[in-house]
Amino acid sequence: MHSTSTIPHPAHVPAARVVDFDIYQPLQPNLDFHASWKALQDSTLPDVVWTPHNGGHWMVLRGRLVSQVLSDYSRFSNRTVLVPKETAGEAYRLLPLSLDPPAHAPFRNLLSKGLSPQAVSKVESAIRTLTIGLIEGFRLKGQCNFTHDFAEQLPIRIFMQIVALPLADMPRLKYLADQFTRPDGSMEFKDVRKNFQAYIAPVIHERRGTDGTDMLSRMINGKVNDRPLTDEEAANLCIQVLVGGLDTVVNFLGFVMLFLARDPVARRTLAAQPTQIGVAINELARRFPLVTVGREVIRDMDYEGVPLKQGEMIVAPTILHGLDETENPAALAVDFKRETVQHSTFGNGSHTCPGAHLARTETRILIEEWLARIPEFAVASGFEITYTGGIVGSVNTLPLTWEVNSTRDLTPIGVTA
Ligand code: HEM
Repeated sequence: MHSTSTIPHPAHVPAARVVDFDIYQPLQPNLDFHASWKALQDSTLPDVVWTPHNGGHWMVLRGRLVSQVLSDYSRFSNRTVLVPKETAGEAYRLLPLSLDPPAHAPFRNLLSKGLSPQAVSKVESAIRTLTIGLIEGFRLKGQCNFTHDFAEQLPIRIFMQIVALPLADMPRLKYLADQFTRPDGSMEFKDVRKNFQAYIAPVIHERRGTDGTDMLSRMINGKVNDRPLTDEEAANLCIQVLVGGLDTVVNFLGFVMLFLARDPVARRTLAAQPTQIGVAINELARRFPLVTVGREVIRDMDYEGVPLKQGEMIVAPTILHGLDETENPAALAVDFKRETVQHSTFGNGSHTCPGAHLARTETRILIEEWLARIPEFAVASGFEITYTGGIVGSVNTLPLTWEVNSTRDLTPIGVTA
């Protein structure tokens, strides 16, 4: 497990703002991942606190402030987004995430096209075919390890297709992406970056100057301010897309299916109204946010009554936006009829996730095809669900069971796992 470096609180940090909270280990006894974060938010703490963990950093606890810190680049820079700043933050200076406007836009444009709704619509039938194939691969067994048998398969295989990388490389890349987002202590952050660079350098060399239509080729051969990308820029762009694409959807699907396994009313509502599933995804995104990133403070300033110093880190957990009662009353309840759904699950401002449409599409298709075939299911009895915190939170393992005779065979001819 990642070991966190704590520091004594600096003189300018008021003692009343100091809280003992580690974003890599946020779990509180007897609470799940989201309830643990919410317990912090619902405590009597002020809206901006400081923790000595992970090199020492500020943290905002309200939805309003989460979206402000993520989007106000005049005060909070994307130069560093991960804590600890000196290790994870330095190693994660990737593109376009580490740039502020206006430098950010030309790099962002290079990757937006490959993840646009038009691009996603081109892989939608592949997503559906693979979804059905995976479900049919275990439906008649009456059980599956959802994490391994589905969540780690669908988004990663589709992503590997979009970037045209061999499936055989999937375990190596997933391991590296995990070391950035939920480090297990087996590799230092700087070595994660080095390993990614060693992997991507020959890919860039091979695809440079070609007219390949996969997402990486298009990015590598794109132009920024009328000039070609340097090898380093191309690598930083590719690594960012790999980290974004390999980890987040996998974990979001885990939270969503855990919820549906435990909530018969929600799954029956969605099964009865499949056309509503697309809209329901937004409420699920609000209720199950999982990313915790931050910003570097640009200059000394007073912010919400605390003195921030230039160069300090301020963390804005997206988890605390969707769960904030002041913006989403009864925030822990999933309510598909909620009038307004406020969240920052896919970020806010110029860095808002370009992969959100792909993530929503994969989640929608999973729920549609799963509920049509396996309408009733539960977490395997006696199994204790555990979670891991970090930059991207996760359900560690999700074993699901169902009665085989309650399932439906809707397999189109020609679909195999
Ligand atoms: C449920 C799934 C996902 C969630 C919750 C999620 C969340 C986020 C968040 C919160 C940010 C903003 C980070 C910040 O402002 O510091 C972000 C940015 C980003 N995401 Fe996602 N993401 C998901 C899926 C994806 C996928 C599938 C991809 C790629 C295939 C992707 C690629 C990226 C990239 C490249 C950025 C940086 C954008 C920029 O700097 O302009 N994400 N994501």
